[in-house]
Amino acid sequence: MTGPAVAGDESMLGVCYYPEHWPESDWVDDARRMAELGIRYVRIGEFAWSRIEPERDCYDWGWLDRALQTLGAAGLKVVLGTPTATPPKWLVDEYPDILPVDSDGRLRRFGSRRHYCFSSPTYRMESLRIVTALAERYGRHAAVAGWQTDNEYGCHDTVLSFSDAACRAFRGFLKERYGTVEALNEAWGNLFWSMDYRRWDQIDLPNMTVTEANPSHVLDYRRFASEQIDRFNRSQIAVLRRHSPDRFITHNFMGFFLEFDHFRVGEPLDFAAWDSYPLGFTERSRLDDATKVRYAETGHPDIAAWNHDLYRAVGHGRFWVMEQQPGPVNWAAWNPSPAPGMVRLWTWEALAHGAEVVSYFRWRQAPFAQEHMHTGLHRPDGSLDVGGEEAARVGEELAGLELPDGDRASVALVFDYEACWICEIQPQGQDFDYLASVFQWYSALRRRGLDVDMVPPGAALDGYALVVAPTLPHVSAAASSAFAAYHGVTLFGPRSGSKTRSFRIPENLPPGRLADLIAIKVNRVASLRPGLDQPVAWGNRRFTARRWAEDLETDLQPIAQFETGRPALVAEGGRHYLACWPDDDLLEAVVDHLAAAAGLDAKPLPGDLRLRRRGTLQFAFNYGAEAVDVPAPDGADFRLGQRRLAGHDVAAWTLP
Ligand code: GAL
Repeated sequence: MTGPAVAGDESMLGVCYYPEHWPESDWVDDARRMAELGIRYVRIGEFAWSRIEPERDCYDWGWLDRALQTLGAAGLKVVLGTPTATPPKWLVDEYPDILPVDSDGRLRRFGSRRHYCFSSPTYRMESLRIVTALAERYGRHAAVAGWQTDNEYGCHDTVLSFSDAACRAFRGFLKERYGTVEALNEAWGNLFWSMDYRRWDQIDLPNMTVTEANPSHVLDYRRFASEQIDRFNRSQIAVLRRHSPDRFITHNFMGFFLEFDHFRVGEPLDFAAWDSYPLGFTERSRLDDATKVRYAETGHPDIAAWNHDLYRAVGHGRFWVMEQQPGPVNWAAWNPSPAPGMVRLWTWEALAHGAEVVSYFRWRQAPFAQEHMHTGLHRPDGSLDVGGEEAARVGEELAGLELPDGDRASVALVFDYEACWICEIQPQGQDFDYLASVFQWYSALRRRGLDVDMVPPGAALDGYALVVAPTLPHVSAAASSAFAAYHGVTLFGPRSGSKTRSFRIPENLPPGRLADLIAIKVNRVASLRPGLDQPVAWGNRRFTARRWAEDLETDLQPIAQFETGRPALVAEGGRHYLACWPDDDLLEAVVDHLAAAAGLDAKPLPGDLRLRRRGTLQFAFNYGAEAVDVPAPDGADFRLGQRRLAGHDVAAWTLP
């Protein structure tokens, strides 16, 4: 199911363009200037349904034909979006059942975007109708290099819909999974609170209950919702493959978004793409206010990188940035201006992490509608904005620098979407946040200069020096075999192995299946409100556990222990278990301990410097405002920048 490769193409820059937003007389000039700027790929069309089909079955292809012709004539390659994120008004009026329903049972209406329910059979049909029409017309067009399905699945809280259609489909999903209602009752523990069902049609969606719904019910509903997106996406892909041979297919996923299983949805794509808005994500994150202020104009140094590393895994080794922040955005609580140099830095950072193309959002700022305060490479009057100048500089730099292929990182971080859902459904302590946990680990590893690959549970782990699973509540049989087959250094964080697939406590108590790999049993867990910290002693050093602590029963000699004398960190044959949520100092001590055990060279980096190796090119990114020295060997051959690296600047040197 894979299309042609893009790596090795002479240009790695792209842009998002909306020809329908501008007078046709501007298009030729826009296309020429794109090419001059070093841009090669142009994504168009993903919201244009109302202009492609203004009324049912009345297609207006003329403008799109001419747009493709103009872009192609300038030597640009087009990524055509399927326009299904924006069903037009006539369609919604004709079939109101395509609208999604929120968790309070209210219909979400027309007037913005993403107003459809993934479970609506009508919408599935309509989506395939418009995709077929587009693919038949442009599937073999010389300017079309590939396709983007829909736009940002799940954006604006649209993974879950509580419609009648979703309810019917959910019952079918359960029937297929459990076979009999009795088996479902047993798996979910429905004898509790008299929740037993006698027939499939008695089962509703888990919303609007008096108090929390059964967590097993909620988890299956979230699995179901994730699967609906996968099915929707695959149905479009099947049409595109049929009518558009030799073109790639991708989807632009969102940053820091965990509500569906991206590994599953990414599986049939040729590569993953994601939309990188470092300032917006920093502002919207759960980082504390001081950290948000510190990185308000650069983005947190690990946010874009974290997503690059995740989407490289989602895209089975290949990814693009489909939308790169070009200046202030419009959608966060505050929208500051990136520090000068950051658009260039973000672009190079994406490339260092293996991006094949970085495409800016958008060519020109729109002077109208919801996003008229969102900048582009150009201002609304067509003049080049700061982001455009920086993109042009990257274009020039790229012309003189061949990027080698990337390879495996030294550390694997086990990342699991279901782990996130499990922690959300029953956090047990309100700050036990899966993303925060994974991000904290990732950031600590990166502050030590280590490169990280994200891997789904169950992936083969050989070749990595260190494997970290920050928390993995449900350890599947496949995941446990992969851990068993791996003989390097491993770290399992708290709550790992604490649930079965149907959200029960394992019969042998946590860590369930992991007890075969490390001889411990978790007898009790405690969540710790802010201020209720637990001291941890490690030799003569003192650290702090926050948020979460566990009582382990084990004969293993503790490496670090709580005040009570109970083990906080234990290891058996390279496999470590951490029985708490560590504060930053404890976390760094654990990372240093693991890195030493794994034979990795992990040293703290100065300031807000970050490193990333792409094959034989070592990159360094200075997220801080002050100059720092990069850790390059004497006599290093610098291809970008130099040893003394100014604030917000980029260096790259070749490795022997
Ligand atoms: C993305 C979206 C774009 C645009 C952009 C603004 O989430 O895909 O269509 O809305 O954000 O930053």
